[in-house]
Amino acid sequence: MATTLSATESLSLLSLSLACVGILANTFQGDGAPLVASIAFSGLAFASCYALIRWLGPAFMRRGFKGRDLCKLKQTEIPETMGAVCAMVYIFILVVFIPWPFYKDIVAATSGGGNRDVMMELDQVETGRLLHKFPHNKLASYLSAILSLQCIVLLGIGDDLFDIRWRHKVLIPAIAAIPMLIVYFVDFGVTQIVVPTPLRPYLGDLVDLGWLYYMYMALLSIFSANGINILAGINGIEVGQSLVIALLIVFNDALYLGPFAPYPHPATDSHLFSLYLLLPFIGVSLALLMHNWYPAKVFVGDTYCYFAGMVFAVDGILGHFSKTLMLLLLPQAFNFVYSAPQLFHLVPCPRHRLPHLNARTGLLECSRAEFKRPPARPIAEVLKLLHRLRLLDVETGDNGEIVSCSNLTILNLWLVWFGPMREDRLALGILGFQTVVGLLGLFVRHRMALLIFTQDNW
Ligand code: UD1
Ligand code: MG
Repeated sequence: MATTLSATESLSLLSLSLACVGILANTFQGDGAPLVASIAFSGLAFASCYALIRWLGPAFMRRGFKGRDLCKLKQTEIPETMGAVCAMVYIFILVVFIPWPFYKDIVAATSGGGNRDVMMELDQVETGRLLHKFPHNKLASYLSAILSLQCIVLLGIGDDLFDIRWRHKVLIPAIAAIPMLIVYFVDFGVTQIVVPTPLRPYLGDLVDLGWLYYMYMALLSIFSANGINILAGINGIEVGQSLVIALLIVFNDALYLGPFAPYPHPATDSHLFSLYLLLPFIGVSLALLMHNWYPAKVFVGDTYCYFAGMVFAVDGILGHFSKTLMLLLLPQAFNFVYSAPQLFHLVPCPRHRLPHLNARTGLLECSRAEFKRPPARPIAEVLKLLHRLRLLDVETGDNGEIVSCSNLTILNLWLVWFGPMREDRLALGILGFQTVVGLLGLFVRHRMALLIFTQDNW
């Protein structure tokens, strides 16, 4: 991989950065323009992440962060864990961005009700008598988001360094979720869910889930982070799916913020918050995707997968749309459930389940789990049933016993359905699928919700 930027690249990144800095300089006026600033910061995030991935690649390889591309004929080693670069740039940008969303409040709190003509004595400002006007709860949300994300990045890098065991690493995101859950508890604390109309005669209008709701949110973090990590193995798929999900959430936020939304909507603030977290994420992910797309020049590492999953969990929980988020994660959920027999070792699970490259055709085929001994009767029957439903490819020996089956991931299932194909075609197919399912999910969320709920909160 080239480790320097070409002249065109340098020039483009430099002009992008200058433009963004220019925009930022103009945002300290009136109420401040946090959304515009966030877009400018995302541009900066993209530019710096793009350059850093290039420059740091060799340093990462020297420290042992490298991997072989298993779906290539010539398996050269390329830098791994580039997600760590993304995450660092992202967190740095979020920290620098802190003053913007609160600019209006800082002005109001420090100079008397937003009227800057009122002169305050310095001692009044410093004793903070007017700071009660400042929205400390919002700042707490924002800071707890940063803290949770920092936690997950530390733990993710730990995993990339030491290959933590699967049964230990599933819990990682639940620990990282604690700061955000505490703030949710203190600040928002809503643990009731609205009951669908048909069930109301039995359950009432609202059901309070209490601590179960916190369990649900911790599990959502676990699922979101690991769901992305196990839908992995071909170039561009980890970052690609994360970008698609992020863009779909931005689209959903825009529904609440755009000119067509009833303004001022009560959820405006939480959807703005969501955008502040997502726009820089899209910036760094785009820079990573340009290096990780087929043929990959870097790998993203588990750090990226956990980090991306946690960004979505934090965004959905603190933005109060965690159930909508679930709809956008449906392909990951399906992949998770479909993988379960291998994750729980009912079916043998090789270290890598990514598709297999046929060296003769240059196309990917599904990879297989080989059974050393035939599986127990009930498992064999289920696998054969899945085969008949075309949800699996099972190979049987002469005596009818199962010898092997395709690995249980949607990447392999896609290849079972549509036949061998090139790596980038497979990635595009899955990303297209993710987009369609997500859009359908949002459609159902906003249009069909009225069939089972009395109102849509849009
Ligand atoms: C998860 C999957 C595993 C899959 C792996 C691929 C489960 C339980 N685990 O494991 O089945 O094989 O991700 O990322 O589902 N690699 C490529 N091409 C790519 C991406 C990765 O060849 O486009 C290979 C490289 O050798 C790279 C390695 O996968 O070094 C990274 O694997 P890692 O992310 O550590 O695997 P897990 O997340 O543990
Ligand atoms: Mg991984």
